Amino acid sequence: MKSLADIYSHLPDQPSEKTLERVDYEARHWSSPIRGPLKPGTEEHKKATVQMFRDTFNPYKPSVIDWPELDPETLHRITSLPIWDIAVQTEGKARLRMAAYAAMIDDPDMKDALSRNAWEENRHKEVLSKLVEAYKIKMAPEPDYIEPKDTEWAYMVTGFSECVDSFFAFGLFALAERAGLFPMELIETFEPVMQEECRHILLFANWLAWHRATMPFWKRPWFEMRVVAVWIFLAYERMGLARSIDESGQEHTQDNNFTVTGAKDMTNMDIKVPELMQLCLDENDRRFSGYDPRLLRPTTTPAIARAFVRASGLWDRFKGKTKAAA
Ligand SMILES: [Fe+2]
Ligand SMILES: [Fe+2]
Repeated sequence: MKSLADIYSHLPDQPSEKTLERVDYEARHWSSPIRGPLKPGTEEHKKATVQMFRDTFNPYKPSVIDWPELDPETLHRITSLPIWDIAVQTEGKARLRMAAYAAMIDDPDMKDALSRNAWEENRHKEVLSKLVEAYKIKMAPEPDYIEPKDTEWAYMVTGFSECVDSFFAFGLFALAERAGLFPMELIETFEPVMQEECRHILLFANWLAWHRATMPFWKRPWFEMRVVAVWIFLAYERMGLARSIDESGQEHTQDNNFTVTGAKDMTNMDIKVPELMQLCLDENDRRFSGYDPRLLRPTTTPAIARAFVRASGLWDRFKGKTKAAA
């Protein structure tokens, strides 16, 4: 495996417009040269998964990002978003957990892909730290990042969390872009980060399928029970029940529900929840559309969102009919 520090030291400082356009295109479009189906558990599927991750790497460099000057109103809007602490800490945790899991697995190809993913999480953290610094956002002290005891569990919590959070972030990001409340330069800075999360969850979905297909059959029932437990944990966390206590003994409720409250902060438009869900679904499809269709996509969050959109459509029709009958 090529050293990750080596990749970083070779990121271009001032790439030309043409180079930027090319790498951006390549980060969003990829097809495996391998012919035929890519069945999870086969060497072909695994090679395609890890090659996708390597080939779609975007070599942007956080240290050279030019943070635009903001008018007082926009600056206030950005600094008062309740996401910065949790965003920085999430990236820090993701980096640690992915690196820990990558170090544990034997397969050299998957090890390489997951190590690269950890490295990219660290780069996200750097981007956010630079933003926090540029706009003087007040931050809570970062907690110590502790190596997980149950490495696989921690990796799955991070992976499934990314699947849920990225799905909603895609929609919120599109909403912010449409509302025009944030400068275009800022949207453009975060665009590769957003697409990177799409690649991460694409890798996670295919790692999961590979892991399921290659583990001994007698381990599967226990593993599937752990997958269910991860989802229960995430539901609990997202219902705003996860609390943490800081060093001074103060209790914090982390804003894991940013999607619900965040739409109001990201836009001045009036958007209903089913409309937001539909936007998330459309953006999810758009972001994944450039990658080889034989690679698996995350399915659970989009399925829940689709069911929600359908149910609310039926409910609206039912309400319309009962109103007409009255
Ligand atoms: Fe990230
Ligand atoms: Fe990620």
